[in-house]
Amino acid sequence: MSMYGTNDEERTDLTKEESKYVRARSRRLLSSLLNPIKARIYVAILLGVISTALRVAGPALIALGIDWALPKAILRQYNELWIVVGTYLSAALATSILTYLFLMLTARLAQQMLFDLRNRMFVHTQKLSVEFHERYTAGRVIARQTSDLESIAELLSGGLNELVIGGLFMTFTAVALFLLDPTSFLILFGALLPLGILTRWFQVKTNRGYRKQRVASSRMIQYFVETMTGIRAVKAFRKEKRNEQHFGGLVEDYRKHNAHLIQLFGIYDPGLIMIGNLTVATILLVGGYRVLDGSLGIGALTAAILYARRFFDPMEEIAIFYNSYQSAAAALEKISGVLEEEPSVPEPTSPVQLSATTGEIKFDGVQFQYATGPVILKKFNLHIPAGQTIALVGTTGAGKSTLAKLIARFYDPTDGVVSLDGINLRQIENKDLRREIVMVTQEAYLFSGTVIENIQLGRPGATIDEVIAAAKAVGAHEFISKLPDGYETDVNKRGGRVSAGQRQLISFARAFLANPAVLILDEATSSLDIPSERMVQKGLKSLLAGRTAIIIAHRLSTVAIADRVLVMEHGEIIEDDAPTKLAQGNGKFAKLYKAWKESLVQ
Ligand SMILES: Nc1ncnc2c1ncn2[C@@H]1O[C@H](COP(=O)(O)OP(=O)(O)OP(=O)(O)O)[C@@H](O)[C@H]1O
Ligand SMILES: [Mg+2]
Repeated sequence: MSMYGTNDEERTDLTKEESKYVRARSRRLLSSLLNPIKARIYVAILLGVISTALRVAGPALIALGIDWALPKAILRQYNELWIVVGTYLSAALATSILTYLFLMLTARLAQQMLFDLRNRMFVHTQKLSVEFHERYTAGRVIARQTSDLESIAELLSGGLNELVIGGLFMTFTAVALFLLDPTSFLILFGALLPLGILTRWFQVKTNRGYRKQRVASSRMIQYFVETMTGIRAVKAFRKEKRNEQHFGGLVEDYRKHNAHLIQLFGIYDPGLIMIGNLTVATILLVGGYRVLDGSLGIGALTAAILYARRFFDPMEEIAIFYNSYQSAAAALEKISGVLEEEPSVPEPTSPVQLSATTGEIKFDGVQFQYATGPVILKKFNLHIPAGQTIALVGTTGAGKSTLAKLIARFYDPTDGVVSLDGINLRQIENKDLRREIVMVTQEAYLFSGTVIENIQLGRPGATIDEVIAAAKAVGAHEFISKLPDGYETDVNKRGGRVSAGQRQLISFARAFLANPAVLILDEATSSLDIPSERMVQKGLKSLLAGRTAIIIAHRLSTVAIADRVLVMEHGEIIEDDAPTKLAQGNGKFAKLYKAWKESLVQ
């Protein structure tokens, strides 16, 4: 099914069948969120019904007071007055308490649902494979977790409440008016036609307006984020002026849509008041004549006016509910799409246990292509015996990183088998695989926290001595000791900022502490200066002993410590031999090596 998951998320021309599929998916998600709190939702609805009924009783009690208790009071019989006023006060008090309970409960339920959804999103998105994250950009993941959840939050903690209470209130008010005085009810009923027309107009207009406003706002945010994340390039190429103009245009768009919306409210609100006032005036006029001929009590007329007056109060909230409902529904559709995605690299159902992994890697007739794009590897075969150190070289785009990602099982091959110690990677549990195969890439990522914590990620629970030993082994100890707080320095705080090369050294120490059977270094030393690289290499030599290693590097200095060099071109191995042999030959590697040697001399 093409609608599966986040596919076609941005399409607006869904067929009937497709939108049915998407809606059903949203509904499933919604009911899975509602199910655990069902009982309390019923309680909330009950609270809402009772408190609204009590609120609506107010004017009726006033009518009773004027038409029944007041005449008695004039005759100096005060009991009835006390009864009515007492009931009125009790109803008012009960309304306040019940409304308080209703608001507390619904707010809590809304927060619980949001809490649940937020966590689910985080856990799920994190669980999804690298493939998903390379396809679905960080910006979109962030949008799901922020603005989409916000619009659902807005609906849950505002709109929905207002709709339920407003709807109940209008219904009860109409019923009360009907029971109290059918003639006034008919007048109010007559007002529904202009009210309906005005509201429909308002809804159509604001719906369009809100959609434009949302688009304008996300464009503005996206541009802002892009500019600020690329601030170095912006400054380097002096793009500030142009960016200012462009951003100015986006802000202007946003302002325009907002102004338009405010204008719509500016028409709708007075329109509502006008209809309300005309209704009240008509009821007063018709009712006045009826009071004069004695067919209607003054109290009943007063109550009718109060009802008619208050009937329109929730109208605006109800009219704009549709908008918040729509944006929340759209958000829920997108979120349910993300939640529907399955890891493209699934956990095995019956995993094979690894025991004393030696680190032998084998590619057997492997074919691979990314979800988008051509076949990168065709019928690829490669055998890396346990403990061998491989230098993988080749031109940009040859497929070196792709090979590395397949070994680390960030992707599964489209055909054929990648195996570790003869076991298909698909049959190895993720936690075992991550322990035995570690990949260090160019973008050595450090998490907020101390240097120690960052190195300890390699092996949670490692002692400080072990951390320091690992740092010493890769030559990171010296610079770490010079940081303001040494190993306790927070890497994201001021003063703790480390350079790109230093970051690589820390992530090296992390990998060494992990002590995997297979270590993959993809351009992992590219940010190091020559002396630091030398230093790492010294450490590498002893640490790579007894471990399978695949080192990808454009700088050929790594080649010296390799047992075997693989030269890759267009997804194929074109040369494969010991480094000295290759260097002496006259193949591609010999040429690369010669050129590199010469570049060093200068
Ligand atoms: N996530 C992806 N989705 C689609 N195509 C990709 C993806 N990553 C890489 N490719 C394509 O696969 C081919 C091989 O890329 P790969 O990253 O393996 O090259 P490489 O040998 O590591 O190059 P470099 O030396 O520049 O790092 C390239 O043509 C690239 O366009
Ligand atoms: Mg690469």
